[in-house]
Amino acid sequence: EKEMDKQQLLKGKKVLISAGPTREKIDPVRYFTNPSTGKMGYALARQAKALGAEVTLVSGPVNLATPAGVTRIDVTTAEEMHEQMLTHFPDQDLVIKSAAVADYRPRITYDHKMKKSPGDYVVEMERTRDILAELGERKEHQYLIGFAAETQEVERYGREKLDKKNLDGIVVNNVADEGAGFGHDTNASLWMTKSGQVEAFPLMSKDELAEGILRRAAKEMSGDVV
Ligand code: CTP
Ligand code: CA
Repeated sequence: EKEMDKQQLLKGKKVLISAGPTREKIDPVRYFTNPSTGKMGYALARQAKALGAEVTLVSGPVNLATPAGVTRIDVTTAEEMHEQMLTHFPDQDLVIKSAAVADYRPRITYDHKMKKSPGDYVVEMERTRDILAELGERKEHQYLIGFAAETQEVERYGREKLDKKNLDGIVVNNVADEGAGFGHDTNASLWMTKSGQVEAFPLMSKDELAEGILRRAAKEMSGDVV
């Protein structure tokens, strides 16, 4: 395949991607977050651009350079990510939610730094909104892809999330594989679609995985029978 053909795959398509962690503040000097680096989402943005798409990247706090030609919108909290994703959703063709969104945030964010006192301290947490599930509810023409992190029963939990959030595709990562340091020669992620495909991706770089996912999505969006 020539470079020219590659740039046609998502030509004229609008692609919206979320990446990275969110950060939920307790006070001006403390917050809850997770170890997401944003690399997967940035790889998706870079590869979508390489396939000819017009790419918007909604990014949590990460240490990565913006891929060339990609429009980047920075957010910090799950609530800010929610706002940006819903605002940009209506006119997109393909939406991929690879961000690691906090499921909970402190019920109260203090304006001033808390001072320590003797004894334990309990932080009361409240649920954030599930951005992906809301996009699934509002979905019209968009092809919607989610990610899932699981440590067991990868296929079953992945299928549940695909159905429950009304997705077209899902990438399920077995985080136990990676975390435990074994299984590096086995499949680390599973691609599943509403249309019934189930495909294990062998261990590969995030850019390779991103291109693989985008090519499969582009094919389904074009109406090709896979
Ligand atoms: N997600 C989201 N908003 C949230 C939580 C998750 O949009 N508040 C999205 C993530 O971006 C991801 C997908 O939902 O694409 C799955 O995230 P995951 O943490 O695996 O699943 P949850 O639905 O949060 O369920 P749980 O953490 O309990 O497994
Ligand atoms: Ca979660």
